[in-house]
Amino acid sequence: MEADVEQVLIAEAVIEKRLDAMALEIRHDFPGEVMVVIVLLKGAFVFAADLLRRIPRMLEIECLNVASYHGGTESSGKVDFLDRKLPDIKGRKVLVLDDILDTGRTLRAVVDRLLEEGACEVKTGVLLKKDKELAEQVDADYVGFAIGDEFVVGYGLDYKGRYRNLPYIGTLKKEAI
Ligand code: XMP
Repeated sequence: MEADVEQVLIAEAVIEKRLDAMALEIRHDFPGEVMVVIVLLKGAFVFAADLLRRIPRMLEIECLNVASYHGGTESSGKVDFLDRKLPDIKGRKVLVLDDILDTGRTLRAVVDRLLEEGACEVKTGVLLKKDKELAEQVDADYVGFAIGDEFVVGYGLDYKGRYRNLPYIGTLKKEAI
């Protein structure tokens, strides 16, 4: 697996340090509340597990299955909600966690849907944000790292379901894609 990696962009220790700071920021913004956290699957599961264990509070953690990449290296432009039922978030302040903000379509669709379902406020956090023009008007409230507009894997992010268990963020060699 490691032989397919072209370059390590963000090392594990660097991610860990940044998560400490993000967790502090989030704790500060949600004082005393039982937060509802919605983790977008599959890509955000590693990021969420590591971030949320740094928040020593009562949390309600839910997951939402959404897909926009369908296995390749380009967004399909369409966001599919794969769950039949959404968590009950009426009147709640919600934090949505995703792995990466790319075109912005996923976060836009999820935030709109949660507001439609009655959330009173939706905050968003991503580990990575690609440095590019967004297709949708949306921004993340908490961003781990800004990266260039390139396809990355590791730390939950995949190519065809693989590489999610790399402990760092990296790029793949051309011959692996
Ligand atoms: P949008 O375009 O909706 O993208 O902001 C968000 C979703 O697209 C996937 N994505 C990636 N997955 N490497 C990946 O493994 C990437 O470089 C990448 N860019 C976007 C990801 O699922 C994310 O939730």
